[in-house]
Amino acid sequence: MNHFPLSRRRGRILAALALLAAALPAAGRAADATRGADLFDNYCGECHTTRPGGSSRSAPNLFGLMGRRTGTVEGFAYSDANRGAGWIWSPETLDTYLAAPKTAMPGTVMKFQGVKDAAERADIIAFLATLHA
Ligand code: HEC
Repeated sequence: MNHFPLSRRRGRILAALALLAAALPAAGRAADATRGADLFDNYCGECHTTRPGGSSRSAPNLFGLMGRRTGTVEGFAYSDANRGAGWIWSPETLDTYLAAPKTAMPGTVMKFQGVKDAAERADIIAFLATLHA
């Protein structure tokens, strides 16, 4: 009897499953806006407000952020980098920006080192997407 072909096939299947499991946390998991709200409180809440008409004293208010152009909250003194970036805030631009703000937008005065964990960023972005009328 020769068991090699079977065990080789099983090895290949196990390898494929391992790859799938490794990819799942990022790709197969739905973003969670409720967890994102808690993460936002921890990471962002000391500077940013999120309610309509909330203060923009220490940082721009983030209500209605999705689809908005960079640097357009009335009454906040943006850096030239932020005002001049000309991006539209979307899940894609936010993901790049929040991963490493100073790299994505050289010259920004946002004193925040970024969120390294892609799943955490996805949850925060899902929360930010709920901030609209
Ligand atoms: C220490 C205070 C601070 C923290 C913490 C902080 N920010 Fe900011 N954020 C700012 C400031 C100040 C600006 C304006 C930057 C500029 O003008 O260059 C800004 C700008 C932004 C902008 C651009 C807004 C616009 O109208 O163009 C977004 C989006 C943003 N922050 C999201 C976040 C998120 C999400 C977090 C948490 C993951 C966070 N920030 C954490 C202070 C902060």
